[in-house]
Amino acid sequence: MALWGGRFTQAADQRFKQFNDSLRFDYRLAAQDIVGSVAWSKALVTVGVLSADEQQRLESALNALLKEVQANPQQILESDAEDIHSWVESKLIEKVGPLGKKLHTGRSRNDQVATDLKLWCKEQAELLLVAIHDLQRALVATAQANQDAVMPGYTHLQRAQPVTFAHWCMAYVEMLARDESRLQDAVKRLDVSPLGSGALAGTAYNIDRDQLAGWLGFASATRNSLDSVSDRDHVLELLCGAAIGMVHLSRFAEDLIFFNSGEAGFVELSERVTSGSSLMPQKKNPDALELIRGKCGRVQGAMTGMMMTLKGLPLAYNKDMQEDKEGLFDALDTWLDCLHMAALALDGIQVRRQRCQEAAQQGYANATELADYLVAKGIPFREAHHIVGEAVVEAIGQAKPLEGLTLAQLQKFSQVIAEDVYPVLSLASCLEKRCAKGGVSGPQVAQAIEDAHKRLD
Ligand code: ARG
Repeated sequence: MALWGGRFTQAADQRFKQFNDSLRFDYRLAAQDIVGSVAWSKALVTVGVLSADEQQRLESALNALLKEVQANPQQILESDAEDIHSWVESKLIEKVGPLGKKLHTGRSRNDQVATDLKLWCKEQAELLLVAIHDLQRALVATAQANQDAVMPGYTHLQRAQPVTFAHWCMAYVEMLARDESRLQDAVKRLDVSPLGSGALAGTAYNIDRDQLAGWLGFASATRNSLDSVSDRDHVLELLCGAAIGMVHLSRFAEDLIFFNSGEAGFVELSERVTSGSSLMPQKKNPDALELIRGKCGRVQGAMTGMMMTLKGLPLAYNKDMQEDKEGLFDALDTWLDCLHMAALALDGIQVRRQRCQEAAQQGYANATELADYLVAKGIPFREAHHIVGEAVVEAIGQAKPLEGLTLAQLQKFSQVIAEDVYPVLSLASCLEKRCAKGGVSGPQVAQAIEDAHKRLD
């Protein structure tokens, strides 16, 4: 039976019931709903609605229900209850009889669902933070093993300047550090309990809401009941965090897909994260990475969808808000899966150093060095840039790298060029000169790795 049957003389149309019910997805809030209910029962003792003995009986029954739910969450789906709140209440009544009907005194599903979802968000954020750290550790380990693996760095997907595979790894460590802090920041803001806000105007029982918030592990209680039941900023913030995090993961995936391509051949992915083609026997496809890249789309969709759902909603609770859960659950599940999968993709990756080095040597990645060399000899940078451009055209014509041109050939472009130009054009010199903070030089990358280790341990 529905929780609200008294006012109705007609049964709900089966099709409406199906449309309206949220149990098929909010069953995931069972544990939070039960924990929230235990706390609420304690609050009801403080205002004389329940005796200590009644509260004890409710608490034991709720704890027993929690155990059953944890053992088999799927059993909930067999019920035709409207939502998880109705399900928990009906199970409680089954267990303790009419006493169970007292629990909802002074409470509404509106403050209840807002509380449950915030509790769920906090737990999910913990899992995400662990996964972010795990991926960062995998990246740092890969960086550590590849500090001397030189490869081309790109802009516009054109070879630009040499970098190391380690430096590339550490770039993603930085992105993940921002994802982590965005998540922690969102959790700080959502750590405020709506319980005791009633349907919209506040509860009619003089409950100490801050104490209640503390029992549930929240930092404090919300300040305005209308806002409490209609606020879904936490859902938006987590979706935005997930959307940005997934953009990072999709760029990581795209980089590796390119590095793994036949054209680049910089890395070889483990067979544990690749799959074959049903037709072409030679294929080893980077499916794990392509799925990470692809799943980024649905997370952006969830974020935009929720923005649109909330836009223009009048205060306070509206049923539209039930739409908050499916997108959030899917987006955070997807983010978590992709973080795990990205770490797995790094596990067993082979960096083909020879191939990386050859590619770094081609493509005139040291052209900037020649310009800097001319600057050191007194030529203004803009002029030096032009001279090197001409030298590159000549080298391309001869199908040689810049350092493959003879001194006489180089001097055609500028008389200041001398024998000492050749060491400057070496890959090692290109790297080691980038020694300011955040640059690709060996000591800077080693420092970044050490700092990351300290943060992660
Ligand atoms: N299933 C609802 C949701 O997820 C719970 C709150 C229902 N409140 C109400 N007044 N109908 O939003």
